[in-house]
Amino acid sequence: MSDFQLTRTLDENAAEKALRTDVRGGLTGSPKKLPPKWFYDALGSELFEDITRLPEYYPTRAEREILLERAREIATESGARTLVELGSGSSEKTRHLIEAMPALETYIPVDVSESALRGAADTLLAEHPGLKVHALVADFTRPLRLPDSPGPRLVVFLGGTIGNLLPPERAAFLASVRAMLSPGDALLMGTDLVKDEAVLVAAYDDAQGVTAEFNKNVLAVIDRELGADFHTAEFTHVAVWNKEHEWIEMRLRARSEAVVKIRALDMVVPFRAGEEILTEISAKFRQEGVRKELASAGLELTRWWTDSEGRFALSLSVAEDPVG
Ligand code: AVJ
Repeated sequence: MSDFQLTRTLDENAAEKALRTDVRGGLTGSPKKLPPKWFYDALGSELFEDITRLPEYYPTRAEREILLERAREIATESGARTLVELGSGSSEKTRHLIEAMPALETYIPVDVSESALRGAADTLLAEHPGLKVHALVADFTRPLRLPDSPGPRLVVFLGGTIGNLLPPERAAFLASVRAMLSPGDALLMGTDLVKDEAVLVAAYDDAQGVTAEFNKNVLAVIDRELGADFHTAEFTHVAVWNKEHEWIEMRLRARSEAVVKIRALDMVVPFRAGEEILTEISAKFRQEGVRKELASAGLELTRWWTDSEGRFALSLSVAEDPVG
């Protein structure tokens, strides 16, 4: 007997509407920008999976190493009966954690992709027939109300995806995570760490050009969904390390002057030769910075684990008693 429930907090039109708003807003001003969430259509998700297997892209392997090594400690420290995963995707990384959590009763995967949630639940329930799975179709960057579930709760946010948010967006996100938690509940979060510039740039500009394809895919998404005529071949992939902010910037650079029509928006977007669209920031962190950002949201850093090469970190933090 399987115990599966699914709650939708996004209607079918919400994504389409959000795409229009983001594209109109992002391509009207200067500098031009597009939010990274639009990379991930079916092809983009596949390209990202390919990225995680590239020799240059270490974060996925480094995080997996930590998770495998620390699953037991995470389970014991949190004592969680409910596990919430933000941006769960295939729940592939979490499987190991779930296996290490003897007290776990309820798993709440949260993702924008209903098909990914259904697939992940099928696999998990086959392996853990006693587990309750309550999937949430939701955008985790927006405040979220969790279904009733037994405490203590552990929220996990893996992959280093927090790095895609700007500092004020991170503060808002961490505050909304804190709002899901009761005192004593915990957050397990993956953050990529500041390191040698050449290593960082290579991770976002691989020799096979997979990341370049992934980056350009956002233009293909806009062409298809909004009837635009970006020709992806007319843009080149750029990855640069921003020393001041300690983040990688991915950009798309127009090879030559161009005028792009976006039919669904009734919009014309002019490009100068060499003009760039900022498509992603991927911030890299230091322990003290993570500690401070968590503390500002009412979360106390209690554990910090890195992989053997010190490239990536998992942090465990606990919701503080707002009175204490
Ligand atoms: C999935 C957001 C963690 O920022 O490293 C990979 C996305 N972009 N290569 C990251 C990404 C370019 C990735 N995250």
